[in-house]
Amino acid sequence: MKIGIVGLGYVGLVTAAVLADQGHYVAGVDIDENKVKGLNCNRLPIYEPGLDELIAKNRDRLHFTNRYDEVSEVELAFITVSTPTINGRINLDYVFLAAKSLRIIPKDSVIVVKSTVVPGTSRKVREISEREVVSNPEFLKEGSAIQDTLKPDRIVIGSESKEAGDLVEELWRFTGSPIFRTTLEEAEMIKYAANSFLALKISFINEIANLCEKLPGCDAKVVAKVIGMDKRISPYFLDLGLGWGGSCFPKDTQAFVSFAKDMGERLRTVEAAIEVNSERAVRAVNLLKGLMGSLMGRRVCVLGVAFKPNTDDTRESMAIKVIKKLLEEGAVVMAYDPKARTDLVNMLPSKEECIREAEGVVVATEWGEFYGIEDLLKNKYVVDGRRVLRKELMDGRYFRAIGLGY
Ligand code: UDX
Repeated sequence: MKIGIVGLGYVGLVTAAVLADQGHYVAGVDIDENKVKGLNCNRLPIYEPGLDELIAKNRDRLHFTNRYDEVSEVELAFITVSTPTINGRINLDYVFLAAKSLRIIPKDSVIVVKSTVVPGTSRKVREISEREVVSNPEFLKEGSAIQDTLKPDRIVIGSESKEAGDLVEELWRFTGSPIFRTTLEEAEMIKYAANSFLALKISFINEIANLCEKLPGCDAKVVAKVIGMDKRISPYFLDLGLGWGGSCFPKDTQAFVSFAKDMGERLRTVEAAIEVNSERAVRAVNLLKGLMGSLMGRRVCVLGVAFKPNTDDTRESMAIKVIKKLLEEGAVVMAYDPKARTDLVNMLPSKEECIREAEGVVVATEWGEFYGIEDLLKNKYVVDGRRVLRKELMDGRYFRAIGLGY
């Protein structure tokens, strides 16, 4: 098929690469000229394992452009533009602009909304574009985006027109994943409900972690592991720590709460999950203060600045929130991350150097290379915000961990 992808962020680029790899001709459009120039010289705007190889391999079927007229022949056009939350509400300007611009595609072509949008949006896209619309929400995680696209747990296809839905179903059949056909609104709702539930699950275990910290001999990690063995609970997204960040959970939970309010309903559990999450960074810094006393003028190393491992993304990163809080406390902060950067503090080229320079250390992102560094941390005050360190190898007088009673 000839496919257009509007918006070359994480979702757009990964979708483009995976579909090109399936033999389709894919044209990706983005308003950002530098991004398109970079992509045409094989320079990716993001770091995602395996993505550069997949794009390079399918170069002859991939085309990146700033011009909508170059997608005027496509049979399917994906909308994968960002849907930022501004003042707690979703902003759909980019989606509607894309819908309007896509009026140039053939009348019988189909628009697929993949951007996360509040229920009712795809229907508006249908009105604006005067094309048939399918809502096909994306569940990929950064860091494993390609794998998640090739083999998702399920695929949701919301449509009013059976033929349009069939076309998108055909496109994803190669994944072998279960496919659910729904209404447009159900598909949109499923995406928000899924993300909010996962955020809620993490906030729940983080509250259990808060409580365990008050009980000597109690480790929330053990509690999480064992409750996760109950199939009804499941072990996933029960990792306690600094809480959730990234480009999706924070904005989607807020947008969902506002959307519910507009509908005259409240999502109290989601509101509570947001509140619990907003306290995580402060709690971690308080653990360090508990060990070191005042942080004024003290040197602290933060290990990890990305919002999670295997990405260079720092959007809504808890590590950044920890850094800001430490700076507020007057600490002299330095950081190390294998991929991500921040201008807020001095970034050191290795974890060894960062640790050596500091009196206190906070582990803020669970990168693989931070496991097994207990020896490097001797004689430092340490807060493990992501539970990567083996507690039995740490000296309790200088060590605190999220969820660990002391
Ligand atoms: C998320 C959803 O998982 C994905 O389905 C959706 O399409 C986009 O949003 P992503 O933002 O890439 O994906 O990251 P994810 O792996 O879900 O992690 C989100 C945040 O939660 C991270 O900050 C992570 O550190 C945190 N997290 C995750 C926990 O604190 N504990 C966990 O058990 C899992």
